[in-house]
Amino acid sequence: MSELPAPQVFHHPGTVSRADRVALLKQTGATVWFTGLSGSGKSTLATAVEHALIHRGHAAYVLDGDNVRFGLNASPKILTDTRGYGPDAAGRFGLGFGAADREENVRRIGEVAKLFADAGLLALTSFISPYRKDRDAARAAHQAAGLPFVEVYVSTPLEACERRDPKGLYRQARAAVAAGKAAGFTGIDDPYEPPTSPELTLDMSARSVEDGVAAVLAELAARGLLG
Ligand code: PPS
Repeated sequence: MSELPAPQVFHHPGTVSRADRVALLKQTGATVWFTGLSGSGKSTLATAVEHALIHRGHAAYVLDGDNVRFGLNASPKILTDTRGYGPDAAGRFGLGFGAADREENVRRIGEVAKLFADAGLLALTSFISPYRKDRDAARAAHQAAGLPFVEVYVSTPLEACERRDPKGLYRQARAAVAAGKAAGFTGIDDPYEPPTSPELTLDMSARSVEDGVAAVLAELAARGLLG
């Protein structure tokens, strides 16, 4: 057992400057942070933006809430286990949907996106990320590192998300609440705090995916992020 006090970790600087990376890879890394309710269309939009960017020769990658919760932020019994923090039955440390777990989910994604952006990628994150302070912390971490952060508020109204209900989760949440149980579902009995000054706001119930993609690409181009 080590006698040294924790943490014994130190920054190790690389030998490639940001300017060289941008010039040699011909791409400025950035994070495009999609936030919005479940079923708002943020994942559909983010993956369509990824498709458009890749087909235009830009290195981009989507980090999606559902997908990341299968791996990096896994909680194997994600939809049924409301236990929250702590190891699961297999001894793995998973994240649920309590406030602390959502905060940690978003913190980790902010860090991963920052690494992607630093590597020169266009990181497209698609998470509900319901708390303003957590999104603002991700933005601040990017700003401190000199990395662009573009927040896209997918503002599709709750009624439209609930009408679509692609996974049947709203229906389940409403049924739980009607039965006097807590669902902890965003927009139903769990909060969503809309961004106060996002770079872009897109109501995906009022526009096509193609239109949304065009708006995001125009925003990135206007910010000089597409070369
Ligand atoms: S968060 O709040 O940012 O940590 O959530 P995220 O990682 O984006 O995961 C959201 C997806 O998880 C499913 N799901 C829930 N969403 C909201 N509230 C509760 N309680 C919940 N339980 C499971 C749901 O499928 C979300 O998917 P999207 O793509 O957002 O519809």
